[in-house]
Amino acid sequence: MNVLLTGGAGYIGSHTAVELLEAGHRVVVLDNLVNSHAESLRRVEQITGHAPVLVTGDCADRETVDRVLAEHAIDAVVHTAGLKAVGESVAQPLRYYRNNLDALLSLVEAMDARGVRNLVFSSSATVYGDPETVPIPEDAPLSATNPYGATKLFGERILGDLAAADPRWHIVSLRYFNPVGAHPSGLIGEDPQGTPNNLLPYIAQVAAGRREFLQVFGDDYDTADGTGVRDYLHVVDLARGHLVALHHLADAPGHRVYNLGSGKGYSVMECLHAFERAVGRSLPYKVVPRRPGDIAVCSADPSAAARDLGWKADRDLDEACADAWRWQSANPRGFAG
Ligand code: WQD
Repeated sequence: MNVLLTGGAGYIGSHTAVELLEAGHRVVVLDNLVNSHAESLRRVEQITGHAPVLVTGDCADRETVDRVLAEHAIDAVVHTAGLKAVGESVAQPLRYYRNNLDALLSLVEAMDARGVRNLVFSSSATVYGDPETVPIPEDAPLSATNPYGATKLFGERILGDLAAADPRWHIVSLRYFNPVGAHPSGLIGEDPQGTPNNLLPYIAQVAAGRREFLQVFGDDYDTADGTGVRDYLHVVDLARGHLVALHHLADAPGHRVYNLGSGKGYSVMECLHAFERAVGRSLPYKVVPRRPGDIAVCSADPSAAARDLGWKADRDLDEACADAWRWQSANPRGFAG
């Protein structure tokens, strides 16, 4: 298929581009490069031997989207573009609502006008808020505890209403748990701008000597070692989830939602020790007070994706840390380096 991959120069997007190209699809990337590097796509070509087409632009620009859909005879869209830093979204709510919702609305309006109605949407486990029970199934109560999570919740609602109004739409929303790791080649990986918000890239930068120590945000949670527990999912498994969702679209009219998670929870300290095993030495850390808004435990019930998509996570945390370290140590300054 001819696939439009928005945000394809980013962390999730570049790994998804690899899987799509290796499966024989043609990939056209639309990315405004605000939070990503075109170099990642040159690396994607190095890995796959196929060059994704890069169109530098914004999903909110309907003319650009319309031109790309027409010129490249797009059959389906995988929409991963968006702002995704929880803390930043609390500080800049209007920027997040405008960016993430404008992009989605302009994209689906342009798709509808061109009769392209196959869509895989990047959603998030943040739509579950502070879950009542874990592991979390897709029919758990939804609540957004920050503007970023709200843009994902509203995005799913928009797509659900669209599919209910017009059965020609085939849409899958993927609720990512915690993506980690890198492609085993070490050529592409997570390259956060500024100080990493998320745990694994921060640990990787401690290991690379870019950060003095890891701050462990609280060790007084109701968990085995007192530190926060999350469902860490290897980014290659996550990327493959997009490929199977895309292949599933043809048989699936309407809007379907799937958790993409490993189903296993690991604590902050377990992640730190896994990364130490990858690096071969201990890494410095300090326990500091909890981060506001953090929850104790979050992990997926991934059984629906296994049942309907035939998808499950094949890679474990140790593999994700080894792959992340290979990327970080080969690219200490990320793509810009
Ligand atoms: C994980 C655990 C922290 C950093 C995010 C966002 C969003 C989503 C995925 C897509 C928590 C602890 C962290 C640090 C720490 N992405 N931690 N020191 O908060 O589960 O959610 O994940 O939707 O980006 O919702 O991920 O990696 O920030 O935190 O102790 O320097 O690590 O307290 O327990 P989180 P995270």
